[in-house]
Amino acid sequence: MISTRIAIFASGTGSNALKIMEHFAGNAETVVCLVVSNKDDAGVLLYAKQHQVNTLVINKSDFYSDRSIVPDLEKAGINFIVLAGFLWKVPDAIINAYSNRMINIHPALLPKYGGKGMYGSRVHEAVLAAGDTTSGITIHLVDEHYDNGKIIFQATCPVAELDTPETLADKIHALEHRHFAGVIDEYIQKLHHS
Ligand code: GRF
Repeated sequence: MISTRIAIFASGTGSNALKIMEHFAGNAETVVCLVVSNKDDAGVLLYAKQHQVNTLVINKSDFYSDRSIVPDLEKAGINFIVLAGFLWKVPDAIINAYSNRMINIHPALLPKYGGKGMYGSRVHEAVLAAGDTTSGITIHLVDEHYDNGKIIFQATCPVAELDTPETLADKIHALEHRHFAGVIDEYIQKLHHS
């Protein structure tokens, strides 16, 4: 049996990480084994504990050292990485070790509103300032540039005239929660059969 061992990287609340842990709970082939965070008080670490998932809190000097945390990931048998609200740029050592096996979610319709500095409410503010009537989510592979890898999935939602960055963020979160885990699951199935 092919087994996929996932590490989720997250910096914040971790509502997407939680959905992913719930989705794969009880799945013998695909297991969330590790949650990695750059913040020792990130909400995601509590969700990990609730789901008996190991955690790793990283610091900048280790993360940006030559091999980064690749040895820790290898030791834990990680063969797939999901970025779910992870705010640090992933170093090339990890990108090279996990090419085609690392997925990110972005809260807008890439290639619009992506790139360095485009995260959190800034994305929604930019969408509203541009007067777009549609926004959405993008799930994509990670390469060495911010928000640039091959797009795997997009879903849209309408932007209403009265939307604020907060109401738009709520709509986007709902879309993310509906789709992210299922898209990861499908992608992993495809990897197994390719
Ligand atoms: C999500 O909106 C994701 O698209 C972005 O960061 C947010 C993380 O939210 N990259 P959460 O921590 O999963 O609640």
